[in-house]
Amino acid sequence: MESIKVFSPGSITNLSCGYDILGMCLESRGDEITVSKTSKKGLTIKSISGFDLTKDINKNVSGIAAQSLLSKINIDHGFEIEINKGIKPGSGIGSSAASSAGTVYAINQLLDSPFSLLDLVKFSMEGEKFVSGAYHADNVAPIIFGGITLVRTIDDLDIIPLPTPKDLEVVIVRPNIEIKTADSRKVVKKKVKIEKMTQQSANLGSFVSSLYSEDYDLMSRSVIDQIVEPDRAVLIPEFKKIKMISKGIGSIAAGISGSGPSIFTLSNNRVTSNKILDKISDHYNSMDINFDGFISKVNSGGIKIIESK
Ligand code: HSE
Repeated sequence: MESIKVFSPGSITNLSCGYDILGMCLESRGDEITVSKTSKKGLTIKSISGFDLTKDINKNVSGIAAQSLLSKINIDHGFEIEINKGIKPGSGIGSSAASSAGTVYAINQLLDSPFSLLDLVKFSMEGEKFVSGAYHADNVAPIIFGGITLVRTIDDLDIIPLPTPKDLEVVIVRPNIEIKTADSRKVVKKKVKIEKMTQQSANLGSFVSSLYSEDYDLMSRSVIDQIVEPDRAVLIPEFKKIKMISKGIGSIAAGISGSGPSIFTLSNNRVTSNKILDKISDHYNSMDINFDGFISKVNSGGIKIIESK
């Protein structure tokens, strides 16, 4: 195989009760990454379309993740990367993770898969560290493994795939502002009261249980964030109002997607999802706030090969 093109999807992380550890892979948005072998050694980013990003391999997450992979293997040729961004950077749905993960996945395929999925998560995390200032695998894990994942630890990487209730879907609304992950992490207070830690642990445990039992009422009682969301809510236009609107229409739960500004709302049927999206759109339109909104099912397969030659 000389060249491969993959679809690398976006993701929603934290899901309110699992800061830096829970993530869900999306079906409806993603980047297209094409990687080709070159006879010359080394790595280049040939083109980037969709959004304006640097092609410097030391400053672009695709280049950083790819270099992390290439440092672990001896080969006598190089690679050229073409990125078509379908996810706006700084939107809170795993834009950098999709590029990092898609790139290392594609290179691994061209090398006949010497690396495991866990290895690919580790390489991709170098990209995440570069953009956010901290190692976290909550975006890259569901993109690479598919579905919903729990990252038990990043020290000795342990990723637990969780089941997806069959009717679960998500409405995503992104007010048209950019929030850099590094900035959004700076507003999160570093100390947590023991009572809040206890409650958040209980919510996380009951959320996981609700995925197994497909108990949407329990899910609704569990997807609550008393720790990070209060610090970040101020960054997102009309966040509280949007949450109230979603609740009034029968959503399961709503919260900040990743580091924001996207807001996610969970639902278990398309009629409700459409109503939620309509009402939120009406509200943002009435406030003259530009936004992008869409509905997505959970993507159980993760990164997908589009073509190879
Ligand atoms: N868990 C991370 C955060 C995701 O909330 O900062 C950002 O990509």
